[in-house]
Amino acid sequence: MDLNGKHIVLGLSGGIACYKAAELCRALIKEGATVQVVMTEAAAQFITPVTMQALSNRPVYGSQWDPREPNNMAHINLSRGADAILIAPCSADFMAKLLHGRADDLLSLMCLARPLERVPLLIAPAMNREMWAHPATQRTMAQLRADGTTLLGVGRGEQACGESGDGRMLEPQELLQDVIAFFQPKSLAGQHLLVSAGPTFEAIDPVRGITNLSSGKMGFAIARAAQEAGATVTLVAGPVALATPRGVHRINVVSALEMMEACVQQADQATVFVATAAVADWRPDTAANQKIKKDGSGQVPHLGFVENPDILATLAQSPRGASGELFCVGFAAESHDLLAHATAKRARKQVPLLVGNIGPATFGQDDNALLLVDAHGATEIPRNSKLALARLLVANIAKRIAQQSA
Ligand code: CTP
Repeated sequence: MDLNGKHIVLGLSGGIACYKAAELCRALIKEGATVQVVMTEAAAQFITPVTMQALSNRPVYGSQWDPREPNNMAHINLSRGADAILIAPCSADFMAKLLHGRADDLLSLMCLARPLERVPLLIAPAMNREMWAHPATQRTMAQLRADGTTLLGVGRGEQACGESGDGRMLEPQELLQDVIAFFQPKSLAGQHLLVSAGPTFEAIDPVRGITNLSSGKMGFAIARAAQEAGATVTLVAGPVALATPRGVHRINVVSALEMMEACVQQADQATVFVATAAVADWRPDTAANQKIKKDGSGQVPHLGFVENPDILATLAQSPRGASGELFCVGFAAESHDLLAHATAKRARKQVPLLVGNIGPATFGQDDNALLLVDAHGATEIPRNSKLALARLLVANIAKRIAQQSA
């Protein structure tokens, strides 16, 4: 419940994307938020206030003359307790209204009358691609940003009008993630995080290979948490079918050698490297070009192995890693004696921080428990969802970086 205790005013202006606002309203509530819906007259042409009232479990407001408010000041009363006003969809016309501070309907009046320092304004634009690309819209957006409005971006693809391009409203789940991210502390602002995640796959022949049970979930959660914390994030992912977290740049790789190449290439721009990947320690010394066939003799093929390079140790012991310019964090997936193995691994890899976990208890699961090992000792982070742990770890890394540069 990432929005527990948050009160959100969900404003709808006129546009076909209003149909997505119904699902967004539900999604916000499912995450623990309370939602007060305010609609413009145009929005009510696309979706009824009845639908939005039923979903939000609160009366919907649409007029600045609403007599239900004892003081007849809905524009003041509705915004004062809000943690944010989210306009989704925000039409081109409504954006232009916000730009000029016009206030001739309840929603725009409320936006203008909100306490700027306490009630942030987030907008999810939705319009035809020509309207989106028009210099007037682009100019409006630049000014709204300068005025402190958070623009949540748009999607690309088929539009209700039959054209295709930029300007679709983001999907409800994407908007939900953006709203959740908005409320997270920006402890990694200005940092560039490189994360390796998932297993690697070492080919034996074109149809077989050696891999492991890492699901990539912890690494993906760290990438998401770092992005929420304001970092630029590059995620080098082994073969997993997980969705890329919003705003994260993902590079897909298969083998340890490919992961090594991608990480080394990206590390130059990074300030933090978190190695969550379960990199295969060995790869077959030769990968056959064609499928190895049974010849009927009962003979089994003999595989030889060579050791893969250690990505974490390579980056941690590079000049930028050794000087702390690239803050390196390792993971240790162990089956037993976690503290002893994690402590030894930290020293061997020469990283300031190593995060231990029990492999068989975490691979594929949605939760985990961590043991943070640094030069001073070990701290346990008790079992929790991987996303919750990732947020704690990100905050911990941010503190260490701040201490280092102080
Ligand atoms: N790691 C890496 N490259 C490798 C092997 C490991 O970057 N070739 C990183 C992992 O991403 C992890 C840390 O090193 O952050 C420890 O990985 P782990 O598999 O637990 O340790 P190993 O070094 O492989 O040691 P062992 O197999 O003996 O436990």
